[in-house]
Amino acid sequence: MIKFDESKIDKFLTVRDVDDFIIHGKKVIDSVLDGQYGLADALGWFNVAENTGSDLMDRIQNHAEKIRADADVFILAGVGGSNRAAQTVIEGMEYRRPQILYMGNTLSAREIQNALSGLKGKSVYADIIAKNFATLEPALAFRMIRSWMQDEYGPSYNDRITVTGSYDNGQLAGIAYSNNYSLFEFPAKVGGRFSAFTAVSLLPMAIMGADIDSFVKGAQYTELHIKADEYGGISARYAAIRHLLQKKGFTVEAFSYFEPSLQMLARWLLQLHAETEGKKPESILPTISSYSEDLHAIGQYYQEGGRFFFETFLDFFKPVNLKVPASDFDDGLNYLEGKTLDSLNPAVSKAAADAHYEAGVPVLRFSADKIDEETLGEFMYTQMLSAYFSAAFLGVEPFDQNGVESYKRNLQRELRGVK
Ligand code: PA5
Repeated sequence: MIKFDESKIDKFLTVRDVDDFIIHGKKVIDSVLDGQYGLADALGWFNVAENTGSDLMDRIQNHAEKIRADADVFILAGVGGSNRAAQTVIEGMEYRRPQILYMGNTLSAREIQNALSGLKGKSVYADIIAKNFATLEPALAFRMIRSWMQDEYGPSYNDRITVTGSYDNGQLAGIAYSNNYSLFEFPAKVGGRFSAFTAVSLLPMAIMGADIDSFVKGAQYTELHIKADEYGGISARYAAIRHLLQKKGFTVEAFSYFEPSLQMLARWLLQLHAETEGKKPESILPTISSYSEDLHAIGQYYQEGGRFFFETFLDFFKPVNLKVPASDFDDGLNYLEGKTLDSLNPAVSKAAADAHYEAGVPVLRFSADKIDEETLGEFMYTQMLSAYFSAAFLGVEPFDQNGVESYKRNLQRELRGVK
């Protein structure tokens, strides 16, 4: 179960400040809990059951099993929110069979060449995810993958392609029908960064062997608890604290994590909050730090630099049975001899949180006893609701991302040679 600790904000906000804000913000909280805030046709993610019915889950599992049975390599092509939740679980749980390749998330010619050049002679399957098939990176990756597969497998290559796109928009769906690709729905009422509990993310996870039933169960557990709490539980409380800290000038949030395999979880959070909330000059800028490594880098700034940020620790650790061995010479570490390595990162977390807090940084903490699909589902849905609450407290539309269109227009002009 996910735990939330707010004890290290007391120098900046009192429990009473937070309670008062929540009580006075009840109307806003109600509008979120009723799914009444923001674009109504973007709330398809709000009820987890809406996109995780048993027929769809069976279809996902069956399709995933077929691919797993024959694939040496699985290519997950998508960008932004459309591939990040799947990457979070696949990397977080360290699923490695079949080999996974991420494409459609870069325009680096070198990366694309490297990806394709390792495929010769292998059994390759791909899932191309693009809601409206209007984003350059996945569309280009699709063309490159298609061309490579046609050369390698001939006309029957289409058995190896799955596309996940909106049925309503039709373009990718139409392409799938006319080329006999397998097709899964990217629900029209769900945006990329809210697509964790839809076929968009569940299919790639299942292909890599993840337990998607448990992932969905974790989200449903959160949904039940948060929606049953008239004050929105920890999702609303965390959002309220972030909002109040921002009002006091803490406009940057550093998510600090300890397991390198959870880097994608931190990056998923970064996107979720930045694209949902980043619509006003005062919006919180999320950043990420990987500990303990970054304590030897940005940690210097956190300790003694500007006081305009707060830190949210992600205390999710993966226990293993490994002890610090004896040494035949004194390397200065004899005080650790016989200790399990598991005890180190929690100690680092405590030491860093205390040091930063003492130096004037508000510190929040999420923790869990274990990391598995169920916990990830629980945490990710808690955060999706928090992002929704945060946007409502700030008064911005959570479900659009018009800001990303400006560079896209410029890029189209550049590439098409229009002056
Ligand atoms: O969260 C979002 O909505 C975005 O990050 C999209 O996922 C991203 O822009 C990719 O969109 P698409 O799936 O249409 O290619």
